[in-house]
Amino acid sequence: MKILLFGKNGQVGWELQRSLAPLGEIVALDFDSTEGGCGDFTNLAGLAETIRRAAPDVIVNAAAYTAVDKAESNPDLAHTLNAGAPAVLAEEAAKIDAWLVHYSTDYVFDGSGEKRRVETDPTGPLSVYGRTKLAGEQVVSACPKHLIFRTSWVYAARGANFAKTMLRLAAERDKLRVIDDQIGAPTGADLLADVSAYAIRDARTRPDLAGLYHLAAGGETSWHAYACFVIERAREAEWPIRVESENIEAIPTIAYPTPARRPLNSRLDTSKLQKTFGIHLPDWRVGVQRLLDELRVD
Ligand SMILES: NC(=O)c1ccc[n+]([C@@H]2O[C@H](COP(=O)([O-])OP(=O)(O)OC[C@H]3O[C@@H](n4cnc5c(N)ncnc54)[C@H](OP(=O)(O)O)[C@@H]3O)[C@@H](O)[C@H]2O)c1
Repeated sequence: MKILLFGKNGQVGWELQRSLAPLGEIVALDFDSTEGGCGDFTNLAGLAETIRRAAPDVIVNAAAYTAVDKAESNPDLAHTLNAGAPAVLAEEAAKIDAWLVHYSTDYVFDGSGEKRRVETDPTGPLSVYGRTKLAGEQVVSACPKHLIFRTSWVYAARGANFAKTMLRLAAERDKLRVIDDQIGAPTGADLLADVSAYAIRDARTRPDLAGLYHLAAGGETSWHAYACFVIERAREAEWPIRVESENIEAIPTIAYPTPARRPLNSRLDTSKLQKTFGIHLPDWRVGVQRLLDELRVD
């Protein structure tokens, strides 16, 4: 199997380089790659040419415009990266009968209520990022052999994410204020990459598995409880933590205005994925503890 991976150095892309390796030959590209083709999502002709030359069996797209707040003032670039380039991947993948694997987000939902969202629930993005990611889903689903994984609150040892920011701030500050009315599941890039590899292996001989799947770690938490978990576990492991636990204040979203609105309810129902691929998704704490262990080694 030949796999063309875009966005190789992002949180998910880095883990995919590892998890996809046993499946076959990988050509892995980033936006500034000079070997193996063009991986720049602003160069649509270059992407098409790269796919034609590589003639892969599977295209995996881990590249995206992920700066949620910046997207509000850069809607055109966010749209190009999150929908324009994926449309080219979908068109070229369809021409060569390749699979296209793509990632999307809980931010396609409006976050109302408290129910876990299933794949068929109505969308209603609140932000430019969410709208461009939804547009990306729509163009990718035009490729007959597609796997779209909607996920939430991604973290990894490599890259920037909420857990690492909290650890840094907890070492620097006496007080922290963290939102406690947005609920979701922190999901490791390693879990996403591993499940992607399992799904690709199954789907190769089962075109009927094409579709959209929710993929997130088990359980749920708020950003505040997530921050407390990370900081307390780090303290137990004798990290240099300065903030006392009683000084990690829980605040509502309205007390922390940001350019982009976020959904309050990011709960994803992952039953379809678990049943279809026979996969168990561990509780979010399992992966976050592992992240702490990995960061500690660094
Ligand atoms: N992060 C989350 O919390 C989260 C939540 C739900 C869904 N997702 C989705 O999961 C997927 C992977 O996210 P992630 O967390 O791994 O994101 P990430 O770490 O930000 O990785 C995105 C990658 O895209 C690259 N990129 C930026 N501009 C590019 C361009 N012009 N051409 C090609 N590549 C470009 C980035 O490169 P640079 O780093 O060099 O800019 C980066 O390597 C995305 O589809 C994202 O929407 C993420």
